[in-house]
Amino acid sequence: MGVSKSLVFCVLVFQLLSLSSAEIRFNEIRNDNRPIIPFDEFGFTHRGRLELNVSKISLSKSNPDLDFSKVGFFLCTRDSWLHVLQQLEDGEITCALQSDLIKHVFTFNNLNSKSEYDTIYSENDADQYTLVFANCLQQLKVSMDVRSAMYNLEGRSNNRDYLSAGKTILPRIYFLFSLIYFTLAGLWIHVLYRKRLTVFRIHFFMLAVVVLKAVNLLCEAEDKSYIKRTGSAHGWDVLFYMFSFLKGITLFTLIVLIGTGWSFLKPYLQDKEKKVLMIVIPLQVVANIAQVVIDETGPYGQDWITWKQVFLLVDVVCCCAVLFPIVWSIKNLREAARTDGKAAVNLMKLTLFRQYYIVVICYIYFTRVVVYGLETITSYKYLWTSVVAGELATLAFYVFTGYKFKPEAHNPYFVIDDEEEEAAAEALKLEEEFEL
Ligand SMILES: *[C@@H]1O[C@H](CO)[C@@H](O)[C@H](O)[C@H]1NC(C)=O
Repeated sequence: MGVSKSLVFCVLVFQLLSLSSAEIRFNEIRNDNRPIIPFDEFGFTHRGRLELNVSKISLSKSNPDLDFSKVGFFLCTRDSWLHVLQQLEDGEITCALQSDLIKHVFTFNNLNSKSEYDTIYSENDADQYTLVFANCLQQLKVSMDVRSAMYNLEGRSNNRDYLSAGKTILPRIYFLFSLIYFTLAGLWIHVLYRKRLTVFRIHFFMLAVVVLKAVNLLCEAEDKSYIKRTGSAHGWDVLFYMFSFLKGITLFTLIVLIGTGWSFLKPYLQDKEKKVLMIVIPLQVVANIAQVVIDETGPYGQDWITWKQVFLLVDVVCCCAVLFPIVWSIKNLREAARTDGKAAVNLMKLTLFRQYYIVVICYIYFTRVVVYGLETITSYKYLWTSVVAGELATLAFYVFTGYKFKPEAHNPYFVIDDEEEEAAAEALKLEEEFEL
């Protein structure tokens, strides 16, 4: 990546970060006549609070005969929102604010021609709520600055917990996983030291990936624990995004390098393998920018859907691209096995690469599809389970990769007797009939 490109990236990231303040959200609404504006989502325990400060309110019309009870804020669960939509469709009500299924926070008839309104709303029914603004007066345009904070009170001391009900133990989970990765890094250093005669460059690269992952998790734990206590990340999010970025790039590069067999099968990269890297690395940059926007704006932020789609697309392309080098290596190994007569050696490598191919696919499938599925089907109270599932899958992938590609003192590739060689040659014949 060129200097100018990385500069552009940094500027972009900092611009995005300056817009955001984590769980205490700030939105400017200008001349907006949308009938429904969702703001934010939060899982309340039975001691939930919503702090809503609305300022600089200005309305395009203010005739006293307009019914301003049809303009205002309310809280609503997803289930009851479906029922409200049904009521609207059946003509039972003409405005979402008239439904008895929603919880009024405040309506503009209480404004008394002031231009600001602060309120604290207590929510005692535990559930996941969305803060919504409804404007049922046609052609009324609203401008306002909305600052909202949602939190749960905990314990006797009434400490505020700004993390949603299912996410409140996330800091501890991230911290635990980061300890595991630091331990793995220590273990790896030990292995590298003991087998220092057979260490390749790729093994140091693997160490870097594990360390980055550990640091990234540590930053995420700090980020989340600051948000939990104060509602904003105090700069830890910047560190977190930076390490996510580095981790993303190095992890994908590592998968490609191992896939090509770089440094332990051959010391160079072919042109097409370099091309894969040149596609994957810039795409990772885009994916990371998209991730920052997605995290910082929340599910109802402007362009959230677009960025989510960008992220998914880029991610899918990256995941497919990293598979090519593995497939090429498998092909090369098969051809080599036919020609150079070292069937046993090549069969072992072939098995290794085939396993690696399957494990990479499982890893991608699990962390993308299964985790996403878990996220959608689990109740808001257990959102952390999908995080744990994803992290466990990632951990398993790291451990597998480390174990299978560790430096070998007695390289099994080169100590094979004739009997094994014959058996392997047989196996390779079968292998040839087996399509990938
Ligand atoms: C709302 O205003 C009050 C009083 O001005 C302030 O203490 C509180 O922090 C504000 N809340 C938010 C979410 O901005």
